[in-house]
Amino acid sequence: MSTRVFPDGFLWGVATSAFQIEGAPEEDGRGESIWDRLAATPGRIADGSDGRVACDHYHRWPEDLELLTRLGVGAYRFSVAWPRVLPGGRGALNVRGLDFYDRLVDALLERSILPMVTLYHWDLPQPLQDRGGWGARDTAHAFVDYADAVSRRLGDRVRHWITHNEPWCIATLGHEQGEHAPGHRDPAEALRAAHHVLLSHGWAVPVLRRNSQAAEVGIVLNLVPPEPASPSPADREATRRFDGSFNRWYLDPIFRGAYPEDAIQDRVRAGHLAPGPLPFVEAGDLAAIAGPIDFLGVNYYNRAVLRSEVVPEAENAPRAVPLPPASELTDMGWEVHPRGLRALLLRVHREYRPPRIFVTENGAAYADGPDAAGHVADARRVEYLRGHLAACAGALADGVPLAGYFYWSLLDNFEWAHGYTKRFGLVWVDYATLARTPKASFSSYRDVISRNAVEDEP
Ligand code: FCB
Repeated sequence: MSTRVFPDGFLWGVATSAFQIEGAPEEDGRGESIWDRLAATPGRIADGSDGRVACDHYHRWPEDLELLTRLGVGAYRFSVAWPRVLPGGRGALNVRGLDFYDRLVDALLERSILPMVTLYHWDLPQPLQDRGGWGARDTAHAFVDYADAVSRRLGDRVRHWITHNEPWCIATLGHEQGEHAPGHRDPAEALRAAHHVLLSHGWAVPVLRRNSQAAEVGIVLNLVPPEPASPSPADREATRRFDGSFNRWYLDPIFRGAYPEDAIQDRVRAGHLAPGPLPFVEAGDLAAIAGPIDFLGVNYYNRAVLRSEVVPEAENAPRAVPLPPASELTDMGWEVHPRGLRALLLRVHREYRPPRIFVTENGAAYADGPDAAGHVADARRVEYLRGHLAACAGALADGVPLAGYFYWSLLDNFEWAHGYTKRFGLVWVDYATLARTPKASFSSYRDVISRNAVEDEP
């Protein structure tokens, strides 16, 4: 093993999101979100659970901040729940909801931990869904009002704003595959939703800059580096198609002000779009989406290996089929592939030139729990972390302007449609008692942070 040292000022952090940890859905005037609604629908969450208690972070946040201090992080990425701030989605402000985040921000700063605030991590107020949700252009206007309200209150102290978490998941998992809220299966709506999410990002950036003048503003994308299963032209074509719909559909408008033409044509061939100009794009939209940002947040979990398969009657085009990967898988069934992170960061740097990049999420679900002595020996997570941090060090050596890394997640938590069955935390949560137990990976990450260095393979 050799030691890779990180640059001074490299930001070490962990990430969470409101719905996954807070609980307290009716407290202090919070309104209903689309995830409350989905979780209350029988059959939608694997273990039949919901977010009513989650990690009870809404009450136990001082204890969780104590964990952050013990870990030694310089930053904490969390999200604000829109339905706490604007229970109706827009209109009357719920000051008590904002108070919660105000206290959290102050307590973080007292501990010298920088708050990195995600405005939208999937918990849309249900009243906005009732008026069309992200499929409706008006929701983009509502988001700007929400971003304005939050940044007016917190903008004097927050230095890192993220508009959206993972637009691909919002659009595709929520509106095309139906696994996430609002649970729709409508590819045309998914494309509209993606556009309105991006548009709301573009419109919110200048508002955040105005209300929070010293802050950096960015967006978080989940990116998946694709590789063809073989050098055959058909597999390369499947890879191009996957990349177009998954990665470039978001990177291109943000950094180049245009949706990728080849990916548009793929959607036309699939019958998701009519030929001609994109029906949901109005004059000025793409310029707004491509307005300058200070950083890109990259969430990395895995790569995709693609093979072409012709399904003539179902679709008028070959379909990209992810291959079952041969290597080690986490409990999500996601391949452990640290090299993909280094390659992805280099590609994003070369092709899109964001001023700075943060890895805003990276982590692994493993079920390891306490032994008889109460220790959680999650050796696979320790190795996962080491491998991916070495990949970050490699990306820095490649010249990537990587400014920080956030492990997903601080705590085991509500993993969306999987409920509580997948544990990503550095800290074990006993869902019966809500007791928190740091795992071996917690100590190992704490050591990386204090040394500002990680071991790499020779
Ligand atoms: C990401 C989400 C995050 C968490 C991880 C495992 O897609 O942003 O909330 O669910 O996956």
